[in-house]
Amino acid sequence: MNITRMKANHLTTPIGCDLTDLTFSWVTESSAGRTQRTARIEIARDPTFTNLVFDSGAKSDIDSLGYQPAITLVPRTRLHWRVTVKNDAGETATGSSWFETGKLDEPWQAKWVTAPFGDGSSPFLVRKTFTLEQFSDVHVTCAVLGAYEIEVNGKPATDEVLLPGYHSYTKQIHAQTFNITPLLRKGENTIGLHIGWGWYRSILGGSMTAPFGKTIGCRCEVHGRIEERDVLIVASEASWQCAPSPVIKSDIYYGEDYDARREIPAWSMPSCRTGEWEPAHEFMPTAHDAGPIHDRLSPPIRIQETLNPTVIKTPSGETVLDFKQNLTGWVEIINRAPADATWRFQVGEILQQGNFYRDNLRAAEAQYTYTSNGKVCSVRPHFTFYGFRYVKLEGFPENVNPADFKAYVIHTELERTGTIKTNNHKVNQIFRNALWGQKGNFLDVPTDCPQRDERLGWTGDAQVFSGTACFNMDCAAFYHKYMNDLMLEQTIYNGGVPHTVPARTGWLRNPTPDAHSRCAWADAATVIPWTVYTFYGDTTLLRRQYPAMKAWVGWLQRQDDENGSQGLWATGTHFADWLALDNYKNPESSFGGTDQYYVATAYYAISVELALKAAKTLGKKSDATHYTALLKKVKAAFLKEYFTPAGRCAVDTQTAYALALHFNLVPETFRSRLIQTLAQKIENNDGALSTGFVGTPILCRALSDNGRSDLAFALLLREKYPSWIYEINLGATTIWERWNSLLEDGTCSGTGMNSMNHYAYGSIVEWMYRNLCGLRPHEDAPGFRKVRIQPDRPRDFTNVHMSFASPVGEYIIDWELKGKTFALTCQIPFNAEAELILPDAPKTVEMNGQLCASENLVLKTGKFTLSYDLLD
Ligand code: BGC
Repeated sequence: MNITRMKANHLTTPIGCDLTDLTFSWVTESSAGRTQRTARIEIARDPTFTNLVFDSGAKSDIDSLGYQPAITLVPRTRLHWRVTVKNDAGETATGSSWFETGKLDEPWQAKWVTAPFGDGSSPFLVRKTFTLEQFSDVHVTCAVLGAYEIEVNGKPATDEVLLPGYHSYTKQIHAQTFNITPLLRKGENTIGLHIGWGWYRSILGGSMTAPFGKTIGCRCEVHGRIEERDVLIVASEASWQCAPSPVIKSDIYYGEDYDARREIPAWSMPSCRTGEWEPAHEFMPTAHDAGPIHDRLSPPIRIQETLNPTVIKTPSGETVLDFKQNLTGWVEIINRAPADATWRFQVGEILQQGNFYRDNLRAAEAQYTYTSNGKVCSVRPHFTFYGFRYVKLEGFPENVNPADFKAYVIHTELERTGTIKTNNHKVNQIFRNALWGQKGNFLDVPTDCPQRDERLGWTGDAQVFSGTACFNMDCAAFYHKYMNDLMLEQTIYNGGVPHTVPARTGWLRNPTPDAHSRCAWADAATVIPWTVYTFYGDTTLLRRQYPAMKAWVGWLQRQDDENGSQGLWATGTHFADWLALDNYKNPESSFGGTDQYYVATAYYAISVELALKAAKTLGKKSDATHYTALLKKVKAAFLKEYFTPAGRCAVDTQTAYALALHFNLVPETFRSRLIQTLAQKIENNDGALSTGFVGTPILCRALSDNGRSDLAFALLLREKYPSWIYEINLGATTIWERWNSLLEDGTCSGTGMNSMNHYAYGSIVEWMYRNLCGLRPHEDAPGFRKVRIQPDRPRDFTNVHMSFASPVGEYIIDWELKGKTFALTCQIPFNAEAELILPDAPKTVEMNGQLCASENLVLKTGKFTLSYDLLD
């Protein structure tokens, strides 16, 4: 028996993170026992647990999905926690972990400082030397407007990159705390920050916008334990010294220009010659430019993988690196250029006619320029990132050595939880492409794409992919941070939700109706919290996010009331079924064929229903009563407006049928007619889908769950356009934004809005986990405490395997099909339970070598093997 995956607020050994509502979670692995008898949580100041500050005692109701100890936290303190679990087989296991608090709500003594030269927006270095005699537990806390790297005595203080991440800066600035004790020594020490633009100062999202703030700078405090007392060692103010950075230009979309001749030797060491350094300039950002400082919510962004390229010469003579994978991150290059020589690279996602191509990156220059100081050294960007597979080199010798180049894959570090592997390599590639889409677009914010002049937290994309994302990786903390931003932004729009979170600043300053609250996008406010609750079962997170759900439903109801209180959402302009293929009147349009107010009213109902479920879970009785009535009204209005009494839908598109079926928006009696019509529509469309961002994520689920899994399988396995495998046949290594991002001859279909790394259609992977493999979480026992294992009728594959490290432990499902003989193996983790619904099974089946009834099968913890011949 083992205790693993211990997390505080869903983070492993967090330092300086937001620990509001401190919540522990862990996984118990047990071979002998099935259920937990008791658990006990202890918290201590020391790793030997001699000085306990909390002891829950052994209790039967302590839940591994989320336990909140009643303790008061103090700043910058490491606390150790351990959990002891006893099971029904008489075994006991103990695991321990720790967390470190940040500044909490301790007031800041440091001043904001920026460079005294320029207009406050040039990248700069800032440093401070200080003397230490005896010390321990030294922490630095930084709040930065811009992006930064931090060094102590010439060494990085952290391996995190792209700090401080991307959040709603104008509402809240997240501070990071690092333990720097191992980097310090007796005597003189130096701390140095290198500050550039990052997301804060870059112009994101096009001409209508402005940076979050113009002045870049930092506020920084170093605290330590000296003679057993917590002491402020040094805090930023005018005596800190500044110098210009070798980064001469840096912007998220532009890339970076770096002049190595401006490097200052030993800039973050006491030995640096600081003659030309100037005293820092103190400043105070306005409330408009920066919100209050708060301990960080983001999990760290780190380099996750390294890829090596092959070098190609294109027909037009370019030297291009091919990393064989569309990825997000940096290129690191060994500089061998002589002093004063300049080289450059540019990135692209595809080749065209074998040549380098980057027109679909639109206005994003996505380049890097380096001027050498003659030293051979490794060179990489600092304050930007790129989405690419190909890298064009300029200013390099004719023959470069591939070993001089590497790509670093950078994303938010999240525990990988799910995997799927089948006997069909193209289906495996769909899975991988969606996973790479997640890696490439989970850079602190769930973004639409990582390469062109967007890279924004589009809410619709985030919402439709959230189920897939939570199967692939542990996203609890990641989405909690996103929801925190979303809630902060809602205060600007009176409960409405901007199209991107964080909101692009132009919109933020001018909250016109056009800037927020469109269906399926704004509904991220209800969909994401409920998805997170279903997957992680942490009521505390749901409680913290509930205000977003409530505010959003409040906004929806107000728009309805202002428009006659009909129970409809029939106002505004919507993206609706974005990029669907069924706008036959205007095939060039990005708007799909499904009536926008049909989608809007469907989402009105979906959001009210999710808020209702949350209200019930949280015991909010009067909200629940209100939402029950509202849901009834909206569903009735939806039916009246869009369906005949006999069940004919006025909106005749695949997406319209899928929405009504999947979200239970119609009476049961309409179901068979709807599924028949949907199937017919697909068949009449040459067996192809025509859905966009709203329909695609649910189309296969609507088919499978209504008896037409044959069609869902056919859509998945379709080779011709439009389909997932069409993309793979054209060499895709991530999911495309459009079904026809590349035409059949490999030509890029357009440059207006055409990314090769957009994860929305990767949401098919959720169907793969739930329907192809059969693992379905239960909303009534969230966190996978109870599941339904129900694969669709097996067909077209001989082997399907999935594993999922759920919050209660690992589920494994394997199935094999030989002729008509179906064999299923499943593993159910400790303290969990699965209802097994077998596809097309006879009355009795063989399980673990014994015959048993195939109905009402409830399996608890353990491994089970079943086999039978499928009924026709
Ligand atoms: C983005 C999307 C987004 C959409 C809104 C696009 O430019 O890339 O994925 O959801 O705009 O319609």
